[in-house]
Amino acid sequence: MLKVRKAVFPVAGLGTRFLPATKTVPKEMLPIVDRPLIQYAVDEAIEAGCDTLVFVTNRYKHAVADYFDKAYELEQKLEKAGKQDLLAMVREVLPAHVRAVFVTQAEALGLGHAVLCAEPVVGNEPFAVLLPDDLIWTRGRGALGQMVDLAASRNASVIAVQEVPRAQTGSYGIVDTAGDEGNPARIHGMVEKPAPEDAPGTRAVVGRYVLSPRVFELLRDTAPGRGGEIQLTDALARLATSSNVLAYAFEGMRFDCGTRIGLVEATIRYALDHPELADRARDFMRAALAE
Ligand code: G1P
Repeated sequence: MLKVRKAVFPVAGLGTRFLPATKTVPKEMLPIVDRPLIQYAVDEAIEAGCDTLVFVTNRYKHAVADYFDKAYELEQKLEKAGKQDLLAMVREVLPAHVRAVFVTQAEALGLGHAVLCAEPVVGNEPFAVLLPDDLIWTRGRGALGQMVDLAASRNASVIAVQEVPRAQTGSYGIVDTAGDEGNPARIHGMVEKPAPEDAPGTRAVVGRYVLSPRVFELLRDTAPGRGGEIQLTDALARLATSSNVLAYAFEGMRFDCGTRIGLVEATIRYALDHPELADRARDFMRAALAE
């Protein structure tokens, strides 16, 4: 497989679970400690070697575009004030070798449709998809980096998975590895959000994908599926019948920041890992739990 240079970030969702905060702030801009959720996914993509970031947004998501834009006035002020650390932090939002491209998804027709909207920018090369709601904490190489390495060595598409309790299959895409318990395992089928009794297994798709551009062709004639939406899972199920698609249980801890508790857990995890905050955070949590 060719080098994966382009990463697609579907960010057109409404974020209703975080109302009222998301009345004005897109959920991707909610902070975990001091960085917005989207920054974690962006950093993971850059670490994996991507240099072109494609954000699929809707007309309510100006804040995301503004965030990745150059902040001239702010940079000038910080420079004059000699605040080099802060200046570096602001500039690192998007390193100089990386470019951001914004594509609008005019109608909310589903994740598959959002990915298809990125086709004019991605073109005919392998690409990554990252769903920023899924925050993956790792100590070593990021989850997407692990997947890109695997995709290159096996010349395959790779989908991140994690084991979930059978009762939760209705919240995820579920892969069918035809009894292969290995890691990675070849995918034979996929179902979007099946009821526990219908699920072909308990390996759930997490929001990281390394895909062959062939998926665009399949998405173009994928009919609306679960929830009346054009599902990425349905196109990938078809891709898996004709090419090598691997399910990969990555090293790392995934937080579902599309839910309130996931956002809280991620905040705790990152605070406990933060060089300046860890001690205070630990003391506070101990005291709070002892109450
Ligand atoms: C999407 C995908 C689903 C996947 C999930 C991971 O669903 O459609 O297959 O398991 O992301 O977070 P969503 O959570 O956006 O409904």
